[in-house]
Amino acid sequence: MNKVTVIGAGNVGATVANVLAHKDFLKEVVLIDIKAEMAQGKALDSWQQAPIDYYSTKLIGSDQYETTQDSDIVVITAGLPRKPGMSRDDLISTNAGIVNNVTENILKYSKNPILIVVSNPLDVMTYAAYKMSGFESSRVIGMAGILDTARYRAFLATALDVSPKDIQALLMGGHGDSMVPLPRFTTVAGIPVTELLDEATLNSIIERTKYGGGELVKLMGTSAWYAPGAAAAQMVEAIVKDENRIFPCCVNLNGQYGLKNVFVGVPVKLGKNGVEQIIELKLTSSEMEMLKASADEVQSMMSVYDNLQKA
Ligand code: NAI
Ligand code: 2OP
Repeated sequence: MNKVTVIGAGNVGATVANVLAHKDFLKEVVLIDIKAEMAQGKALDSWQQAPIDYYSTKLIGSDQYETTQDSDIVVITAGLPRKPGMSRDDLISTNAGIVNNVTENILKYSKNPILIVVSNPLDVMTYAAYKMSGFESSRVIGMAGILDTARYRAFLATALDVSPKDIQALLMGGHGDSMVPLPRFTTVAGIPVTELLDEATLNSIIERTKYGGGELVKLMGTSAWYAPGAAAAQMVEAIVKDENRIFPCCVNLNGQYGLKNVFVGVPVKLGKNGVEQIIELKLTSSEMEMLKASADEVQSMMSVYDNLQKA
């Protein structure tokens, strides 16, 4: 695997391309945007960073899908971001049209790429790319859980005054306010977090994590890009290097956790075929209840998407 395309050269897409180039394991990254000159400019700027930061990955910017020919992985970031006061779900009809169109165009030039979806509302847009592509569900994966757990881990690192490197955590559910952080699966250098933090502090960190995206929208007037871009690049790396890394990702469930035909975040193993395995944990009844509520919310938005297609 040598070629990755990133669709959307905005804040997140350009960051994904730049982080991938810095990782220096790909031959080529193509950056596509309807704003051709911006895609070209950002690719050129990143390429001019190569002699300073020492990487060889070539970057090409374009609005022409021919340039994406034979991509092994396509990361979809095209679409509108949130503005203050908007929920991710407010973006559904505009971004569904964009993701549908982008997926159709990708398929014209790449036979069976793995699709990583970033556009919001994330779980529904992953479903849109799955429906439009007709790919098996192991090849259509949404990025949200790595970002949401990274926010949770960063808040924990600050509260405990420890390195974020030592914090491992798991979070499930949709990429929305109903996401399900799981303190039972959160450790600090192997120590259960509940040994180090009192319940009230932990709960306030969990609440802050749930609204972590909104906190940044409020501060910046648009949504985040550094951590989201790095998260999508980490998924690409795990797949290209066939690492079998375990990350929370948005995937289509087919009976796991008692849920069917719903795109929701769960721990998965990522390798050369995309989702190599969905990891099923025994959840407590309250954890399961929260996951089910989150999945129900996603499912109702998936129906909104289905109805939009019929209209
Ligand atoms: P942005 O506005 O900076 O960039 C979006 C880019 O998409 C623009 O350059 C625009 O020209 C391009 N675009 C629009 N329609 C297109 C089309 N048909 N074909 C190709 N390019 C097209 O937005 P940003 O901040 O990069 O966010 C992108 C998306 O990612 C948003 O939907 C945002 O909500 C989502 N997001 C998701 C996250 C997640 O955790 N899954 C985290 C952060 C953002
Ligand atoms: C985020 O969580 C808006 O989904 C985007 O930053």
